[in-house]
Amino acid sequence: MSFRIQPTPVARPNRCQLFGPGSRTAIFEKMAASAADVINIDLEDSVAPSDKDSARANVIEAINTVDWGTKTVSVRINGLDTPYWYRDVVDLLEQAGDRLDNIMIPKVGCGADLYAVDALVTAVEAAKGRTKPIGFEVIIESAAGIAHVEEIAAASPRLQSMSLGAADFAASMGMATTGIGGTQEDYYMYREGEKHWSDPWHWAQAAIVAACRTHGVLPVDGPFGDFSDDEGFRAQARRSATLGMVGKWAIHPKQVALSNEVFTPSDEKVTEAREILAAMEQAKANGEGATVYKGRLVDIASIKQAEVIVRQFEMIGG
Ligand code: COA
Ligand code: MG
Repeated sequence: MSFRIQPTPVARPNRCQLFGPGSRTAIFEKMAASAADVINIDLEDSVAPSDKDSARANVIEAINTVDWGTKTVSVRINGLDTPYWYRDVVDLLEQAGDRLDNIMIPKVGCGADLYAVDALVTAVEAAKGRTKPIGFEVIIESAAGIAHVEEIAAASPRLQSMSLGAADFAASMGMATTGIGGTQEDYYMYREGEKHWSDPWHWAQAAIVAACRTHGVLPVDGPFGDFSDDEGFRAQARRSATLGMVGKWAIHPKQVALSNEVFTPSDEKVTEAREILAAMEQAKANGEGATVYKGRLVDIASIKQAEVIVRQFEMIGG
């Protein structure tokens, strides 16, 4: 083990982040009534340039008036390459009350992007006497973002989560893909007349998870565009969960239940994890560091794996 202890991310459920355009006021109450752990109201790419000002005002009003329950409430601001982002930050921080938990910064490319937003947020917080610090979420969705992913994960103590944004990422990388996330027709292994699809997002996801885990940030899988394909969503989400991600975005309300299903540990998994912990307690009492559980080796590393599952289950109120 390194002398440096791996930091723990913020302890809050993040199984599903439900998105909705800030220009579509009729869905705010529906978002608040959903089963998503995190609400992301968008000021960026789902809002047309002509609607940016009105959407910003709508969103501030909604944060202050809608009953968001115990959800984490976040607003996706515009990118740092646009003329909109500073006004997003200033108006949100000056006018939205303490119900605003986080702002999400899209298309981050380097640690200095977070430093710049942090400086502005810190100044407005001090000027307005805000006592609850705003958290950050970022989206890795460019070649620069993935190339500097570790620097970004370490760039601000405000950073809580990092998502992979598959569509912009693919475009920036020059990937020959069309769908937003999931299986890509031309990405396959071939042998003797049989095709086996591989996962073109695997490397980016694993890089994000490693950077996040190193710096105590929650790794999250971003959007899956085809919201009529439930099994495709499940498969993508299960791969993400297997790699260490804690949740996934929903870009349509029907994806919320799917995401919660995948990122809530099943009763069988939790029971097995608890049995492994008990078996290891027994081994410890016998002065052993390893033992056998259901015919397979379990050792001190298995304790940590089991604890991940039990912790996740307890955090979501299981
Ligand atoms: N959150 C909450 N409720 C939503 C919703 C959302 N994101 N999107 C749609 N709904 C509601 C609709 O209002 C409708 O409600 P009703 O049954 O009371 O009438 C119901 O869910 C079914 O909606 P549906 O007709 O299937 O979808 P739509 O055509 O109205 O909208 C999208 C589809 C994809 C345009 C819409 O879901 C959307 O804007 N998603 C988010 C896009 C986004 O934020 N992108 C940025 C991140 S990638
Ligand atoms: Mg994007």
